[in-house]
Amino acid sequence: MKSNKKHLSSGIAIGVVGTLVASAVVGVTIVYTGAYNVAATEDHQPLARWALETTMKTSVADRASSIEPPEFSVQMISSGGREYQAMCQHCHGGPGVEKSEWARGILPQPPHLPDVVTEWQAREVFWLVKHGVRMSAMPAFGPTHDDEQIWALTAFVMQLPGMTAQRYAEFGQGNSAAGHH
Ligand code: HEC
Repeated sequence: MKSNKKHLSSGIAIGVVGTLVASAVVGVTIVYTGAYNVAATEDHQPLARWALETTMKTSVADRASSIEPPEFSVQMISSGGREYQAMCQHCHGGPGVEKSEWARGILPQPPHLPDVVTEWQAREVFWLVKHGVRMSAMPAFGPTHDDEQIWALTAFVMQLPGMTAQRYAEFGQGNSAAGHH
């Protein structure tokens, strides 16, 4: 009886190890043979795409949960607006402005931010801009921008939903006109 149990558990152990070895062999084969298509014209299978998107959402929400946003001032919004047009508009567009032509070839596609910002809280936008999103074209701005600049960008991004094209254009003029409306 005792030795039967032992046989059974060592059988299971062999099965588990065998499965692990087999998956490792499949993994290494994919890595070395080029069987996996890395083209940016081929999206992931729907299940993998769903898993990646959901992982991004929960990962950002968790990591950003302890960040305290400052009060947003008119100056922050206006300097953030200028910076947004220099750093983000190519990929994300803006009210009345389409993303650059080359940005249409990025996968996953950078979303038109005015349409999706309402899904995110300010602390999450701050986190995304500071740290970027690995394995996507979303850059980390933390290495080149201090927290104050990133909060200014965030303050501006939070104003995007419902902003008119005319108001958006005023931020690019590099003067304080945007603050007077
Ligand atoms: C080179 C292209 C590129 C630039 C420049 C860029 N982004 Fe992104 N961004 C992306 C891509 C691609 C995603 C989608 C990532 C994903 O879904 O995995 C993204 C996602 C985001 C998101 C999350 C939106 C969502 O629902 O997916 C925010 C917020 C964001 N970017 C803000 C910014 C801001 C602010 C800037 C400028 C400081 C910026 N990005 C510059 C490519 C870019």
